[in-house]
Amino acid sequence: MYRLRKQKGNAFVLLRDDRGSIIQCVFPSSKVDNLTRESSVQISGIVKQDARAPEWGIEITGTDLKIFQFSEKDYPLGEYQSAELLLDNRHLALRTRKMIEIAKIRSSLFKFLRQWFSLNEWMEITPPLIVKGSVEGGSTLFKLNYFDDVAFLSQSAQLYLEAMIFSLGPVWSLTSSFRAERSRTVRHLAEFSHLECESPWVSLKDLLQIQEDIVRYTIDKTVNERKESLKFLKIDTSRFRDLSEPFHKITYDQAIEKLKSLDFKMTELEGRSRTIQWGDDLSIDSERELTRKMMTPLFITGYPTKVKPFYVKEDPDRSAISLTFDLLGPQGYGELSSGGMREDNLATLSKRIRQAGLNPVDYEWYLDLRKYGSVEHGGFGMGIERLLRWFIGIDDIKDLVLFPRTMSRVSP
Ligand code: 4AD
Ligand code: MG
Repeated sequence: MYRLRKQKGNAFVLLRDDRGSIIQCVFPSSKVDNLTRESSVQISGIVKQDARAPEWGIEITGTDLKIFQFSEKDYPLGEYQSAELLLDNRHLALRTRKMIEIAKIRSSLFKFLRQWFSLNEWMEITPPLIVKGSVEGGSTLFKLNYFDDVAFLSQSAQLYLEAMIFSLGPVWSLTSSFRAERSRTVRHLAEFSHLECESPWVSLKDLLQIQEDIVRYTIDKTVNERKESLKFLKIDTSRFRDLSEPFHKITYDQAIEKLKSLDFKMTELEGRSRTIQWGDDLSIDSERELTRKMMTPLFITGYPTKVKPFYVKEDPDRSAISLTFDLLGPQGYGELSSGGMREDNLATLSKRIRQAGLNPVDYEWYLDLRKYGSVEHGGFGMGIERLLRWFIGIDDIKDLVLFPRTMSRVSP
């Protein structure tokens, strides 16, 4: 029993079925006298069309009501609650309409991502999530007591996906990735759903096209399948109208020039601000500036090698520039994915691992992938909750995952 509104003679009972749909039933008030919110019931009645009924224009005139369990009277959630209370009671808040519809959209998105890879003959693999080495820098690693040793929670499946391309060709995975993010932002989770893929014999240009196809396909299919959910969440689907057009593409150099021409100032750690320069990484503020007026995503290619992790491949035609890209959501939503070509030269890669201050012992197996028959390859990783932020237009990333894990929250 989702909600109860009693009037003089009749009571309007909103029931939620086990697929998350809500339907209105009318009972004589006396029949539902002590019915409490979230009690589990079975009803009999006559289904009628009634344009005034919420949601479906259908109402049930109830004749019988069987109660399986009386929900206790102190249900912690009322009509209007603070965000914190809702998070403390997330296991129950997930029964509210907003969360139900988000969960349905999430599920469709996962289904169509999987479908894209299946239709295009990429193989799904299941990488380990307990690992020895960092992929995206040591500062966001979660350390784990691993018997008599230490290990870490995986930041990215990339290195394991790379291991599989030599026998399986194009591969992909959808796992949790973990980041001990010390920043409290609306874009960071400590555990997020990470879609990653990797393929041999691809170029940077191929990767952009693959990424674009995946986003277009899954958004298009999800919009189609979840019309009701999107309507409930008041999402204007005309936002996706231009998605059939090629995504915008600029180089990192062009991005810097553009930001300079806008006199974009970046804030340094000490709080001072200065004009952005070539060599700076692009912060969320600069990403926002670049995409504010765009309706389709933006690729930025060719980041300086030094702002990217140890595994990126340098552009053979331009030193200090890497064959990488970030995909930014339009309208200021910021980074959705990162990817590019991987360094396949053994000597260069070993040097980079040492320069990054990583322990070469932990990467011996990864170096073997260059020792024994390497080929050019690349891939990317996309944060599903980041994609959902833009898709649903909800700012706080915590709303887009069922049980959010952040610096201050690991329960329920
Ligand atoms: O940009 P990132 O760190 O790149 C990688 O992990 C690569 N190894 C992926 C690859 O090439 N296989 O992370 C990829 C994406 C980001 O673009 C962002 O969408 C998401 O993962 N992401 C997060 N999402 C939520 N919370 C966080 N703390 C995130 N960190 C990264
Ligand atoms: Mg990135």
